[in-house]
Amino acid sequence: MEIRYLNAHATGWNFKTVIIFGFEDESLPETIPALTGEAAWIRESPALKDFSGKAKEIAVLYGPAGSLLQRVIVVGLGKRDKFDFEVLRFSTATAVQKCKALKADGCAVNLENLSRLGHPVSALAEEIVCAALLSLYSYDEFKTRDEEEGDFSIEELTLFSADDDMAGEIQAAAGRGEAAARGVIRTRDLANGPANHVSPAFLAQTAQEMGKRYGFKVRILERKEVLKLGMGAFEAVFRGAMQDPKFIVMEHAPKGTEKDKPIVFVGKGITFDTGGISIKPSAKMHEMKCDMAGAGAIFGLFEALGHSAIKRRIVGVMPCTDNMPDGNATRPGDIVRTLSGKTVEIINTDAEGRLVLCDALTWAQREYDAEAVIDLATLTGACVVALGMEVAGIFCEDKAMGRQIQDSGERVGDKFWPLPLWDLYFEPLKSDVADMMNVGDRWGGACNAAAFLKQFIEENTRWAHLDIAGPADGMKKNPIHIGGGSGFGVRTLLEIARNGIKE
Ligand code: BES
Ligand code: ZN
Ligand code: ZN
Repeated sequence: MEIRYLNAHATGWNFKTVIIFGFEDESLPETIPALTGEAAWIRESPALKDFSGKAKEIAVLYGPAGSLLQRVIVVGLGKRDKFDFEVLRFSTATAVQKCKALKADGCAVNLENLSRLGHPVSALAEEIVCAALLSLYSYDEFKTRDEEEGDFSIEELTLFSADDDMAGEIQAAAGRGEAAARGVIRTRDLANGPANHVSPAFLAQTAQEMGKRYGFKVRILERKEVLKLGMGAFEAVFRGAMQDPKFIVMEHAPKGTEKDKPIVFVGKGITFDTGGISIKPSAKMHEMKCDMAGAGAIFGLFEALGHSAIKRRIVGVMPCTDNMPDGNATRPGDIVRTLSGKTVEIINTDAEGRLVLCDALTWAQREYDAEAVIDLATLTGACVVALGMEVAGIFCEDKAMGRQIQDSGERVGDKFWPLPLWDLYFEPLKSDVADMMNVGDRWGGACNAAAFLKQFIEENTRWAHLDIAGPADGMKKNPIHIGGGSGFGVRTLLEIARNGIKE
């Protein structure tokens, strides 16, 4: 889909299908001057009489015979004083889906009555573009379809307004919205991809391809190297798998930033989690194809970086493997030596995320003098019990950094809520025979997991752990998310990459 901005002074309402926004209890013609000028028929349109402007409400108006403007989709934004970005995203998406249902080959979104909302119009344009693209997403890699039926898509999205001097700003904002959406879509594709397709090797190949396309540095540490380095915790997880593990490292370092301290993201890349010998019940096991969504979010971030001009050094570290039961698999009670040198008694092989992450965190801290280290993982069912499907847990003892991540998330629609990293959560992990166990008791499971990871964080590392087990693939359907892999976290990471971590 092509995206552009036009100034309506020059062009008039020269489009076949236009989307306009309406607020509850406001008259449209008062806020959109063109409705008394070139497109005056709109205000007389009978269908408008029933339109109240509630959020996501739609009215379709048809132009008189012979008018170039054939169709106007009016979409409600609710009450002006209740406006937020989520309303804008959901309403835009609902209108764009209507365009698709009506098989409009292009649509033009009028921005005129979006001023006076307390947000720059460019920020709104960014959300509109991102929401429009996400509203059209579906995962159909493996759907065979009737050739003749074809595949309809909206070819062109135009933003337009009669306000002067905004062209450059809005064009740039539209570019940011598109980059964000491409990132989210990359993550959704990887999370929705079944494990017989999205394997560690597939992820490694994807990283290589993205590296070539966008100029990222890519390193893949293979099984042999991982073993030689001494990643005993990562090994404990991959030793039961037939397919080789891949320890994937991607780096974005535009000219002049190569020597800067990078922000390092670490993502859990379990391409399928059977639980290993501590095998999971079969009922919902298929959902564990999404257990690489932490790594997936980092792929999404890099896809977005590839479509942006962000001058900051960013590194992604993704330990990837299946977690399988096998004659060679780790047994409950086995003790392994992690890369850090600390030993772990593996009580439950289904608590594998913390095992792959602890070695990746150690490796990342040794390899880079990081500005900050942020890990993302579909780590615990307990986090979902605590916060529900829509919200991720954030563990961060650096108050400013935790706040910044939470605020960035809120702006772009990723909900994070803080959970504690107190030492008391490490108590149940104490082992009689090793430095720690990989699980404690049932209570406070998300916090125990975070306390485990904390054992591997150096004193001076600014660190946050994001448990995305719920929202990565459990979110309810909404107008910008059809269900399945959500791409949760990508836009938050992109905000952080764009703004840096504040002191
Ligand atoms: N991948 C799961 C966590 C998970 C659960 C993600 C539900 C998404 C939805 C993780 O590896 C796991 O199995 N965790 C165990 C830990 C337990 C054994 C301490 C869990 O949450 O039950
Ligand atoms: Zn598991
Ligand atoms: Zn897992």
